[in-house]
Amino acid sequence: QIPVWLDCDPGHDDAFAILLAAYHPRIKLLGISTVFGNASLENTTHNAASLLTAIGKHNDIPLHIGQPKALERPALHAPTDIHGITGLDGTELLPKPECAPSPVPAVQAMAEALRAQPPGTAWLVATGALTNVGALLRAHPDMAEHLAGLSLMGGSVGGGFSDAPLGQVDGKDRIGNYTPYAEFNILVDPEAAAEIFANPALRRKTAIVPLDLSHQVLATEDVRNLLLLGKNGAAVNGNAAGGEGKTKLRQMLVELLYYFAQTYATTFGIAAGPPLHDPLAVALVLTGTPDEIPFPDWDAQKSAPPPHHERFEVTVVTEGSFEEAREGKKETGRTIVKLLPPGEEGVRIPRSVDTAKFWQVIEECMERADEA
Ligand code: BDR
Ligand code: CA
Repeated sequence: QIPVWLDCDPGHDDAFAILLAAYHPRIKLLGISTVFGNASLENTTHNAASLLTAIGKHNDIPLHIGQPKALERPALHAPTDIHGITGLDGTELLPKPECAPSPVPAVQAMAEALRAQPPGTAWLVATGALTNVGALLRAHPDMAEHLAGLSLMGGSVGGGFSDAPLGQVDGKDRIGNYTPYAEFNILVDPEAAAEIFANPALRRKTAIVPLDLSHQVLATEDVRNLLLLGKNGAAVNGNAAGGEGKTKLRQMLVELLYYFAQTYATTFGIAAGPPLHDPLAVALVLTGTPDEIPFPDWDAQKSAPPPHHERFEVTVVTEGSFEEAREGKKETGRTIVKLLPPGEEGVRIPRSVDTAKFWQVIEECMERADEA
C-alpha cells in the first residue's frame, strides 16, 4: 500500500478525494489535515469530521487542524455561490461528527506521520490552498527529500493544453476559475505555491491536476445515477435510506454532487455537470501501479515506455492583491507552465484521463464504504 497524507478543504469535490483516499485498497491513508479555503478553517474541519463519520472512518483516520490563513496574506474564502455557506451545502444527510480533531497541529502531525514511513515511500496530496504544505516545508525542509511524491489539485494552463471546456470570460478563453487567470487553490496562497514549485528537491516528484484536466471529469447526470444506484442499478447491503436501494451514504454524496452541479451551471454556465477536481490528485498517486487510472494522452504521446511523462517548469505569479486579481488587473495566482525537453526534471501534468475508469474506481470505493 502507498502511504498517503491528505490535506484538504472540504468542499464538495474534496469529499470524494477523502472517499477515494480512505477506500482505495492500494492506499493507506495516514491522516487528514484541513486548511481554510472553500470555507473557514472551522467549517472545513467540521466538514472533514462529518465526512469521516459518514464513511465510517472516524475512528481510524486522524484529523488535524491546519492553517487559518495564507503564509503571507489574509484568508480568502470561496464565494458562497460555489460550495454554499458551510462549504458543503446541499444535503441534510451529513451526520454529526463522531470524531474530534486532534490537538496536535497539522504541520507537526504531517511531519511525524510522513517521517514514520521509510524514505521515498509516502505521498502528500493537497486538494486545497498550499498553505499547510508550504508551512510544512518551511518548518521541516527535509520533507522534500523524504517524500515519494507531492500531488496537488491546482493551477491552470490554458492555451489549448487540453480540450477541457473552461468557457470564456469577456469573449476570451477562460484560464482561471476564481479570477480570469487564476485557479482558486493557487490564488488563495500564491506565495506557498511559488515556494513549492521552486523547490529543487520537489520538482521531480510533484504532479499537478490543473483545471484543464479536472474540467474533463464532469459529474454528469449519468455519473450521478451510477453513483446513486451502484453498478447493478441498485445498491445492496441493507443500509438503505428508503427508495430503490440507495444507501444513505450514496444519497448524501449524490445530493452534494447535485448541489455542485447547480452552482457550476449557474456560476460558470457549465450545464453538463460539475468538474470533480480533487479526487484526481489522489488518483495520480496510483500511477505506475497495477491499479493506475490511465492518463492516456500523457503516455501515448511518447514513444519511450512509461514513466516517460511530460514534464513542465511551473512558476506562479505572486504580484498583486486579491482585489486587483479579482478585477482582472493583475494575474496573481496564475500558473505559468513551460514544457521541458524529455529527460529534464520538472512537474508532471497529465493532459487527459480515462474518465470511465475514474468513475468506476469511485463507484467501487462507494461500494466498500457501503459495506463498512
Ligand atoms: C479547487 O477549488 C475548490 O473550490 C475545489 O475544492 C478545488 O480544490 C478548484 O479550483
Ligand atoms: Ca478543494
